[in-house]
Amino acid sequence: ANGTTTAAGHQALDVLMEGLRRLEYRGYDSAGVAVVAGGAIAMRKKAGKLANLTAELAASPLPDSMTGIGHTRWATHGGPTDKNAHPHVVDGGKLAVIHNGIIENYAPLKARLLQQGHSFISDTDTEVAAVLLGEIYRSLPAGESADGARLTRAMQLAAQRLEGAFTLLAAHADHPGTVVASRRNSPLVVGLGDGENFLGSDVSGFIDYTRRAVELGQDQVVSITADSVAITDFFGAPAEGREYLVDWDAAAAEKDGFPSFMEKEIHDQPEAVAQTLLGRSDVDGKLTLDEMRIDADVLKTVNKIIVLACGTSAYAGQVARYAIEHWCRIPTEVELSHEFRYRDPIVDDKTLIVSLSQSGETMDTLMAVRYAREQGAKTIAICNTNGSTIPRESDAVLYTHAGPEIAVASTKAFLAQITAAYLLGLYLAQLRGNLFQGQIRDILADLAKVPAKIAQVLANDGQIKELARSMADTRSVLFLGRHVGFPVAMEGALKLKELAYIHAEGFAAGELKHGPIALIEEGQPVIVVVPSPRGRDSLHSKVVSNIQEVRARGAKTIVIAEEGDESVRAHAEHVFYIPETTTLLAPLLATVPLQIFACELATAKGYDVDQPRNLAKSVTVE
Ligand code: G6P
Repeated sequence: ANGTTTAAGHQALDVLMEGLRRLEYRGYDSAGVAVVAGGAIAMRKKAGKLANLTAELAASPLPDSMTGIGHTRWATHGGPTDKNAHPHVVDGGKLAVIHNGIIENYAPLKARLLQQGHSFISDTDTEVAAVLLGEIYRSLPAGESADGARLTRAMQLAAQRLEGAFTLLAAHADHPGTVVASRRNSPLVVGLGDGENFLGSDVSGFIDYTRRAVELGQDQVVSITADSVAITDFFGAPAEGREYLVDWDAAAAEKDGFPSFMEKEIHDQPEAVAQTLLGRSDVDGKLTLDEMRIDADVLKTVNKIIVLACGTSAYAGQVARYAIEHWCRIPTEVELSHEFRYRDPIVDDKTLIVSLSQSGETMDTLMAVRYAREQGAKTIAICNTNGSTIPRESDAVLYTHAGPEIAVASTKAFLAQITAAYLLGLYLAQLRGNLFQGQIRDILADLAKVPAKIAQVLANDGQIKELARSMADTRSVLFLGRHVGFPVAMEGALKLKELAYIHAEGFAAGELKHGPIALIEEGQPVIVVVPSPRGRDSLHSKVVSNIQEVRARGAKTIVIAEEGDESVRAHAEHVFYIPETTTLLAPLLATVPLQIFACELATAKGYDVDQPRNLAKSVTVE
């Protein structure tokens, strides 16, 4: 969602469409815009990707305007049709509303509004909010000015009556210079311009125009005009937002010569890891987080860590668990956020919650963090997005400085999350005295060498790309790994599902013989992540045995191994080498060929790797 009022010589429509282009990764089932012009609302909306709306606007242009709202949708209530696209225009064409989130009490509200004689065009919960807002607006005294106070008041009253998650933006024909918005649980950021102001689900909605942003709090209403921003709570009491400067610019969110954001972001990874490592320790080697509101004494008494995340971020958490337990000797669980909250988990003031979220907005994770906090746990957010909700609601924050990630399937944020979670592990180990300073220094030195090694993997991508292209017709791929290689295998499988729509599963190599081996038949491709032969506990030889087991049953084995590991050659159709590093740091390298493999294979199949079907980047509904 985005909105603007501008008196700075821009056209609202241009600002909105540019913003929607940048926000499209958040959802791309349908898109729409509405502007206020000549005492009326003019609106266009279209099912499908933004290009369909662009074509519609070319065929049927909108009038000049300084005020408007825009939306790209990821369907929840009601299929992705023209009719269900936002904005929803009600009140005889005077009020336009867009919405992100899910309004949970829409059914009783709709029943009452129907009883009162209102009718509905779409199947959406949004239209219910729009009709409600219109009804409240009309019940208020007209007031003397057209300054939008009436619309703001109506928004406050409407928001009080809504349950669930929502960001609502409204524009009204009688208030040509105002956009009013409310937010509960769903994201919304204000952009401060010069003679113009903006609203966006995230800063990419206005990054072409300003880097000055204001983070809004929970349950707030904001009204913008070209020269003012007023924030209140749902009851009209004035409120403040935190202003911050976005640390990247519009150029960082461009493809930079790559055919897709996915490829660009895969290539951004050396930089993403390097930036995340940057400036974390002072001259004495003392590590720091970005924001810390937890007493050191509390962290010293933590007796359990629970890592909460979804999707790719959850796999980063699983990798991190091996390091955190090894370094800090604190029992660490990793749990999918949406499962955690509903199973009556054991959480108390000795529990440390570590959330991992690229966007900082994933509703499942936000709700899980909030729940844990209510139970007395301390929460640390590892997040890639300044100004987002999860860090704002956490007791401490460690930012991954991967830069904006636009491709829906996560790549550089994954490596940055592992890096940040490792830094957190070292921070805790330092604080609690689990590691000697020299050990920490050695690990940091190994980490510092990782970016150059990732660059080496990227520079040698020819062979893996060729293999990927040759496998475009594959129906199923299995991935195997042990120890930290296990979550890497699962992440490799997820990438293939997300991008190439191929059935793929990641298994713990040791678990194979307990069931999944039944899947192996002649020619079944199996990708194996092999640990370093120099690593501990004969991990390497166990995995090599597992390769032989599947190969004996006809599997076509593709192996990711450490440079110099000749022992795997005899058992593999293809071997891809990654540079030497320690066992715990190997995921930062081993993941990269798997990303390239999925991206290249999907490209060979002709799929859009940046916007895979059915997915959205920030899932702000539960
Ligand atoms: C969505 C995306 C995934 C992502 C997950 C978690 O499902 O499609 O790519 O891994 O959300 O997102 P987060 O922003 O919390 O890391």
